[in-house]
Amino acid sequence: MKTALITGGAARIGAQIVSTLHENGYKVIIHCHQSEEIAQAFCRELNSKRNSSAQVVVADLGDNEAIKKLTQTIKSLDLLVNNASVFYPTSTENSTIEDWDKIININLRAPFFITTELSKALAVSEGSIVNIIDIHSDRPLKNHSIYNISKAGLKMLTKTLAKELAPNIRVNGVSPGSILWPQGLAELSQEEKFNMLDRIALNKHGSTEDIAEAVLFLADAKYITGEVINIDGGRSLNQ
Ligand SMILES: NC(=O)c1ccc[n+]([C@@H]2O[C@H](COP(=O)([O-])OP(=O)(O)OC[C@H]3O[C@@H](n4cnc5c(N)ncnc54)[C@H](OP(=O)(O)O)[C@@H]3O)[C@@H](O)[C@H]2O)c1
Repeated sequence: MKTALITGGAARIGAQIVSTLHENGYKVIIHCHQSEEIAQAFCRELNSKRNSSAQVVVADLGDNEAIKKLTQTIKSLDLLVNNASVFYPTSTENSTIEDWDKIININLRAPFFITTELSKALAVSEGSIVNIIDIHSDRPLKNHSIYNISKAGLKMLTKTLAKELAPNIRVNGVSPGSILWPQGLAELSQEEKFNMLDRIALNKHGSTEDIAEAVLFLADAKYITGEVINIDGGRSLNQ
């Protein structure tokens, strides 16, 4: 059985990636931070479908020591999906060092160090990595400069590590467009939602399944590395 680690795997897009990989025979390691209860319930559900096919690991990805501890518990691995992220607006005038550190550390520093810490295990299995990026890694989203920078960095991380870790490990990315509305601090007004949907060529949201299927495709695509696929319903055509 192949093993996959999915960061931020308890909810939303991450949980769908976990489900899709599990349905396709993977043993899943569900990483979470604040959603441990949800992750444990999800894990029980998956284990009831197939014995010992899921486990939960908890770590704050803003803390590099926690990343080291997490990666030390993983002895063999076939697929790493760097999905966890933070998303909220930061205006250029009012951004703080704390915003910079939080967004850059979780969205960019963590995927780099999780990858380097797990590269030995992934090399043994000739495994792969899929980073969940964002179409705004290429075209900036207004009032989200630190987030845009973090995702542009994650795109370059994907390409540069594809080169560094070849030929034993493939590194690819998936850039979602509009899939699920942001929650909490990042919530959008009705007008912003309408404007966003209006610019999508296919005129609707993508689904979490669309992202998970792209991850599965890249995990199986033995001759693809250093590629990033936009899953955005044609949103990138209109900017
Ligand atoms: N939603 C979209 O339409 C969309 C569009 C473009 C790109 N994306 C990208 O797709 C991915 C998934 O999107 P999403 O909307 O499902 O993400 P999300 O709900 O905003 O976040 C995913 C997970 O990240 C984890 N996380 C946040 N801070 C953390 C920390 N300090 N330590 C460890 N984990 C932390 C959270 O885990 P806990 O809950 O366990 O704390 C959370 O469940 C992200 O990389 C996002 O940037 C999404």
